[in-house]
Amino acid sequence: MTAWRVERCNLRRHTEELLPQLLAAAEEVLRRGAYILGPQLEQFEAEFAHMLGVKHVVGVASGTEALALTLVAVGVQAGDEVITSPFTAIPTIAAIVMVGARPVFVDIDPTTYTLNPEHLPQALTPRTRAIVPVHLFGYCAAMEPILEIARSAALPVIEDAAQAHGSRYHGRYAGTLGTAGCFSFYPTKNLGAYGDGGAVATNEDELAHRLRLLRNYGQISPYRCVISGYNSRLDELQAAFLRVKLPHLERWNQQRARIAELYRQLLDIPEVRHPLVPSDQQPNWHLYVIRAERRDELWQYLDEHGIQANVYYPIPAHLQPAYAALGYREGDFPEAESAACEVLALPMFPELSREEVELVAATIRRFYRRD
Ligand SMILES: Cc1ncc(COP(=O)(O)O)c(C=O)c1O
Repeated sequence: MTAWRVERCNLRRHTEELLPQLLAAAEEVLRRGAYILGPQLEQFEAEFAHMLGVKHVVGVASGTEALALTLVAVGVQAGDEVITSPFTAIPTIAAIVMVGARPVFVDIDPTTYTLNPEHLPQALTPRTRAIVPVHLFGYCAAMEPILEIARSAALPVIEDAAQAHGSRYHGRYAGTLGTAGCFSFYPTKNLGAYGDGGAVATNEDELAHRLRLLRNYGQISPYRCVISGYNSRLDELQAAFLRVKLPHLERWNQQRARIAELYRQLLDIPEVRHPLVPSDQQPNWHLYVIRAERRDELWQYLDEHGIQANVYYPIPAHLQPAYAALGYREGDFPEAESAACEVLALPMFPELSREEVELVAATIRRFYRRD
């Protein structure tokens, strides 16, 4: 195993800062003796809803299940079509397939890596039941035109905000712009738990009610089941940990923004294209993704020099063997395919030091003989 000089994401450092509070929160849960659907979850849901400025947050077991349960809650059924981006984490697609629906892809905007609304109208069919824009790497999808198209087609918009805690679009938080927003608390996310976790944010009372039923076997009260449901709850320990971390999210995102700015300053060379952030949004810098000439060689070079970069995502969803039956081919989504060949995520986490960023930048400059 490589001993990294700079890790892509170091969770231990992140945890160290809050260890006494995290241990106290765990102790409180363990001593109280309520481990599922208890007061920690209720309070976390209220606190996250307050931060986001939405009426409801419903905690569930993962980001994937946040998406799947929301698709079910808005009425998506087997055989329906759900439009999304081919350039996303596989769970976006897994959630659509889990509920028996068919993913229909729309190519991305090459600057934000998110679903390009210009191609959206051509993808609509009479079987389309929902649109799932993905706020990838912390950049927001162009929600205004997407919502406009969805409104005229009377379709719900379910935001995949798994990578966008604290990102803003037109001043409002990602995950609060559409019918519902789905979050993941996978440990590496900007707001991460110590295991799996997820949540759905929505302003719609009926949708929140259905989600609460769906996550708990469809039961409205003990042993009284009113719809066919699942087991998908955010547990008390994870909710307690998330309550400790939530008040720090904004500060951590600001630290990420400073690191992003430093990368931009230290790596002003033509071989590296930096993220172009549209003026109407504020990303949470979940990842710092450059487009690099000779990407694979650079990645290898960084690896050999102890710097852990990563490629999110090397194969777009429409070219994944698992989804071959959907019938897509190479060339169908050129922007997603070229992004897959060029993107490289540099180390990014709030505690990354200036010296570490300087080392990453100096190593990249050396690779391109720009030192
Ligand atoms: C864009 C995106 N969607 C959905 C998910 C699924 O989240 P989880 O891993 O919590 O199921 C993730 C995270 O892995 C993600 O990055």
